[in-house]
Amino acid sequence: MKGAWKMSKNVSIDWSKLGFSYTKTDLRYISMWKDGKWDAGKLVEDNMISISESSTALHYGQQCFEGLKAYRTPNGEIQLFRPDENAKRMQRSCRRVLMPEIPVDKFIDACMQVVKANEHFVPPYGSGATLYLRPYVIGVGHNIGVKPAPEYLFGVFCVPVGPYFKGGMAPVNFTIADMDRAAPHGTGAAKVGGNYAGSLLPHEEAVKRGFADCIYLDPATHTKIEEVGAANFFGITKDNKFVTPASPSILPSITKYSLMVLAEKYLGMTVEERDCLVEKLDEFVETGACGTAAVITPIGGIEVDGKLHVFHSETEVGPVTKKLYDTLVGIQFGEIEGPEGWIYKVK
Ligand SMILES: Cc1ncc(COP(=O)(O)O)c(C=O)c1O
Repeated sequence: MKGAWKMSKNVSIDWSKLGFSYTKTDLRYISMWKDGKWDAGKLVEDNMISISESSTALHYGQQCFEGLKAYRTPNGEIQLFRPDENAKRMQRSCRRVLMPEIPVDKFIDACMQVVKANEHFVPPYGSGATLYLRPYVIGVGHNIGVKPAPEYLFGVFCVPVGPYFKGGMAPVNFTIADMDRAAPHGTGAAKVGGNYAGSLLPHEEAVKRGFADCIYLDPATHTKIEEVGAANFFGITKDNKFVTPASPSILPSITKYSLMVLAEKYLGMTVEERDCLVEKLDEFVETGACGTAAVITPIGGIEVDGKLHVFHSETEVGPVTKKLYDTLVGIQFGEIEGPEGWIYKVK
């Protein structure tokens, strides 16, 4: 089996041209849950899955997913950034939609196996590109009523992806969505597909109007910022505080919680997780979106009631945002020593 993993080593990819799109890589991991337990799991070549037409994942949205990256360091090693946090978040998502949890060790092992089996797809250090890992759990098996599936599939595949910012980190503008991505006591904090299906239309409308994406407000009062597209929000106040919204319907971003630690421990800032009111946007001198894919996207301005509220600048990155970005990315790529336990070497 091991020999078979090494089949298409002659991949020739122009790393500098990679975007955030699908590429078939060599092997992916699949494990099945039946009769109350997960099987040992294996690597497979086929990138197509065959499931019952009546699978709950297809009809009732019983599924969840994760997203994390493998990074190539200056000395050519490969490392993952806080995969244990993705594993724990996936367990919470599974619990929310009544699916069996994946043990943390099994999740990390599956990610490691997939990275090792596709090592030649991990972009070189300095290209800014990374190997994106997509773990997912779906309800499968024959079923027709609205109830949990009889069987589940846990998969992990990977795709090399380019830097989010072509030609450097540049601010982008957002507008506020009229629609919600999640309900007040719904599934907003779980990484389940339904939240994303609901965001496709407001996203498309925002893009048609020339914005990068839309900002979602709290679904109960529509007065507080919750999410920036598929990323969390942060703002830097005039007195140098790192502020980020607190709400049960926000997806708890691993990048955001990491930035909170870095802001406090590495940049000496005060950190606050609390309401970020749309009517008080002028408390922030810099704002940004953060997430695995977005890394840190500086927000140039936010459109509120037809007017663009500009923060630091529509073209220049603010100094605190830049420092946060350099520190986070430095740790992810192994240039800066991160807090203990954040980095998992792929061996
Ligand atoms: C809705 C949403 N918010 C925030 C994030 C950022 O989370 P993380 O930093 O864990 O990637 C993501 C991406 O996973 C997301 O889909």
